[in-house]
Amino acid sequence: MITESKKQEIQELHLQAFGKEEGPLIHGLVGDMLAEQETISINIEKEDKIVGNVLFTPFKLNEHPDKKCYLLAPIAVSPELHGKGLGKDLIEKGVKHLISLDVDAIFVLGYPQYYGRRGFYPTYVVLPYQTEVMRIDAWKMRELKPGSMAEVGGTSVACNAIMKPEFWDLNYEPGA
Ligand SMILES: CC(C)(COP(=O)(O)OP(=O)(O)OC[C@H]1O[C@@H](n2cnc3c(N)ncnc32)[C@H](O)[C@@H]1OP(=O)(O)O)[C@@H](O)C(=O)NCCC(=O)NCCS
Repeated sequence: MITESKKQEIQELHLQAFGKEEGPLIHGLVGDMLAEQETISINIEKEDKIVGNVLFTPFKLNEHPDKKCYLLAPIAVSPELHGKGLGKDLIEKGVKHLISLDVDAIFVLGYPQYYGRRGFYPTYVVLPYQTEVMRIDAWKMRELKPGSMAEVGGTSVACNAIMKPEFWDLNYEPGA
């Protein structure tokens, strides 16, 4: 169970990392996600301060209800510590935890190159709010159980907190 002060610390970290434009939206998203019981929150702390956080939320595949999947979003590292491998460490810490929970795969909508270098590949699973497979470089999957996601596609639904069209806007250009 996460305390209110830890929750605020995590929200503040995301606000700082995402900056003035995106920060407030993500701050709210993180609050809503942390209020959902099934959300998995992974931290990296330095001197009792949270300097990195990533959230994983259940991600449902409509045509494959037997698959246990999670969405990786959002992820944030303190701006002064960017580029030191903390983002990578957060993802790997999360992956280790999810493997221990017998998770099949994680999905992410984000910087194509960043996640491409972290073991994420294009997928036939369609983004929430979409009904057809499209080639979207930013939409990727990392299989945690080898072979379990072969031939798996179809439509998907994310958790309530992020099931809002603004979070799935395909005109959004990461880093632009
Ligand atoms: C994205 C983020 C979590 C990465 O954390 P980090 O600790 O700086 O990442 P790492 O040190 O593990 O990795 C650095 C690598 O990411 C790359 N990278 C960082 N930001 C990137 C971006 N916007 N697009 C592409 N690559 C990026 C760096 O070039 C570096 O490449 P390398 O692995 O070849 O050396 C961090 O930059 C952050 O908090 N950003 C603001 C919030 C955000 O945008 N979250 C992700 C949304 S998808």
